[in-house]
Amino acid sequence: MAELADSASLQALAERKRALAATTLAQLFSADAARAERLAIVWDGWRVDCSKERLDVATLGLIDQHARACGLPGWITALFAGEKVNLTERRPALHTALRQQHDTPLIVDGADVIALVRAAQDRMRALVDDVRSGRRRGASGEAFTHVVNIGIGGSDLGPRLVCDALAPLARDLADSGLPVAFVSNVDPEHLSRALAQLDPATTLFVVTSKTFTTQETLANAASAKAWLTQALPGADLTSHFVAVTGNAAAARAFGIAEDNVLPLWDWVGGRYSLWSPAGLAIALRLGYERFAELLAGAANIDAHFTSTPFTRNIPALLGFVGYWNTRHLGHTQRVVVPYAQALAHLPMYLQQLVLESNGKRVARDGTMITGSTSPALWGAPGTDGQHAFFQWLHQGTRETPVEFIVAASAAHTLGDQHRLLVANAIAQAQALLEGRSEADIRAALAASGEQGADLDMAVAARVCPGDRASTMIVMPELSAYRLGQLIAIYEHRTFVEAVLFGINPFDQFGVELGKTLARPVIDALAGMSPLPERIDASTRALVEHARKLARS
Ligand code: F6P
Repeated sequence: MAELADSASLQALAERKRALAATTLAQLFSADAARAERLAIVWDGWRVDCSKERLDVATLGLIDQHARACGLPGWITALFAGEKVNLTERRPALHTALRQQHDTPLIVDGADVIALVRAAQDRMRALVDDVRSGRRRGASGEAFTHVVNIGIGGSDLGPRLVCDALAPLARDLADSGLPVAFVSNVDPEHLSRALAQLDPATTLFVVTSKTFTTQETLANAASAKAWLTQALPGADLTSHFVAVTGNAAAARAFGIAEDNVLPLWDWVGGRYSLWSPAGLAIALRLGYERFAELLAGAANIDAHFTSTPFTRNIPALLGFVGYWNTRHLGHTQRVVVPYAQALAHLPMYLQQLVLESNGKRVARDGTMITGSTSPALWGAPGTDGQHAFFQWLHQGTRETPVEFIVAASAAHTLGDQHRLLVANAIAQAQALLEGRSEADIRAALAASGEQGADLDMAVAARVCPGDRASTMIVMPELSAYRLGQLIAIYEHRTFVEAVLFGINPFDQFGVELGKTLARPVIDALAGMSPLPERIDASTRALVEHARKLARS
C-alpha cells in the first residue's frame, strides 16, 4: 500500500485550484455544455450530481491520479480482505463482511468471519421471530409489545436512523412490527420519557454495547432493570433482556443470560455496526426480511465501489469532491440536508460516522497532518432548514457546500406534497448557484417606485451572490434496500476521504479523555473524594457550584 501521497499530483491540484480561482460556477457550465452529465453519475436509478461543485472534469482526473498516489485501490482491497486497516488498534474493519451475500469464507486470524456472521444472523432471525410471533414472553406470560434499545453512539445512531426512516414501511405491513424506543443519554429524562407509556410486563430491553463498559449504557440498563424489578417483584426477568456485545462476560455479570447475548466482534467499528446484531432493534421493528434487504442494498454498493472506475463510482466521486472542498478549497463546514422527514436523523448519524472517523490531526504513521481533515458536518431536513439556516447559506459571508438528498418517488400519496418537496430541493440548489443579481432586483424595485438611498438599501439587502456550491443526491425511493445503499455510500465515501487525508478512520481515541476525566468529577459531585490538586480553577469552581446547588 502506497503510504506517501505523490507530491507531483498535489502540485498539479494546487495549480488547478489557482486556474479555477477566478472562474464562477456559471462560467464552468458555459465552458462545458456536457458538464451536467459529465459531473453526474446515473446508476441503478440514482443520480448523483456534482456539476454544481467548484471543480471540472480535469480536476477530477487529477484527484483520481492523486488517489492512486495515495494508494486508494490498495486500501480498498485491504479493507474488504480483512487486513488490519485499523492500524492503531491492529484490527480489520469488516463491516462489509456483515452484509456479504455469498458464503465465500473470509479468514481473519484463522477464523472464517462469514461463518460467524451467518451463525449470528441465524440467532438474530430466530430471536426476532420468537419475539414478533409472541412465542417469547415476558415474566408474567404476556407477549412483548414494546422494545427499548439502550445504547449510545454507534450502538444507537444507526439503528435509530433506520427504524425512523423505514417507519412508513412498518405502517404498510400487515404485521406492523414492534415499536422501538431508543434511549442513549445518561440524562434520566431520556429513559423515563421512554418508559412513561410502557408496561413493564410487555417491555423487552435490548442493551447494545460493543464494550459493555460505556457509562451511559450501563447506567440506563441498571435503571431499566430496577424499573422492571419494582414492577414485577420476585419475577424471573431473564426474557426481558437481550444484550448485543463483544464483552459477553460483562453482560452475564450484569445478569443477562448467555442465550440472550448476541455477538459484536472487535473487527466491527461501533459506527459501522448497524449491519451486525447491533441492528437487532431494526429487525424487531421491521422484521428480519427488511433487515436482510438493508444488508442487500449495502452489499450492492460494496460491489459498485470495488468494481467501478473512481470517476464513475458514487462513493469515490463524493469522496473526491469532499476532499477537494476541504483540503484544497479550504471549506471548514459541510451541510447535509435530506429532503425527507424520514431521514431526519441522518445528519446526526453522519456526524458520528464522519467526525469520529475523520476528525483527526495525525496521519496513519503518527506524523502531524499539514492541511485540514474533516470539516464540521451539520444539517437538518428540508424544507424545515429553509426556514432556519438557509438564509445563512444564501447570504452569509462565507460559502459552505451543501449536500441535498431527495427520493424521486414518494412514500406517501398525500396530494402533491412529494412534488413540492422534490421541487424545493432542486430549486434551492439552483438558487445557491444562480443567486439574484443587483441589476435584477433594482429593476424590480424601481418599477415599484422606490428611489435613492432607500432603493440602494433595499437592493443591497436582497442580493443573493449565488455561485455557491452543492451536490444533489437523488435516490430512487426510500426503501430498506435503497437506505442500505445510501448508508453504504456514505461509509465508503468517508473511507475514500480518510485515505486522501492519510488518516486511520477506524479509531477514536479523542473520545476517551473526557470519559476518563469524568470519573474524579463524578466522585467529587457525590462527595466521595475531593478533586485532585492539579485541577484548574474553573473546573473546581464549576464542581463546587454544582454541588452546592444539588444540596440546596
Ligand atoms: O463515542 C465513543 C464510542 O466509543 C463510539 O465509538 C461507540 O459507538 C460508542 O462509544 C458506544 O460504545 P459501546 O458500543 O462500546 O457502548
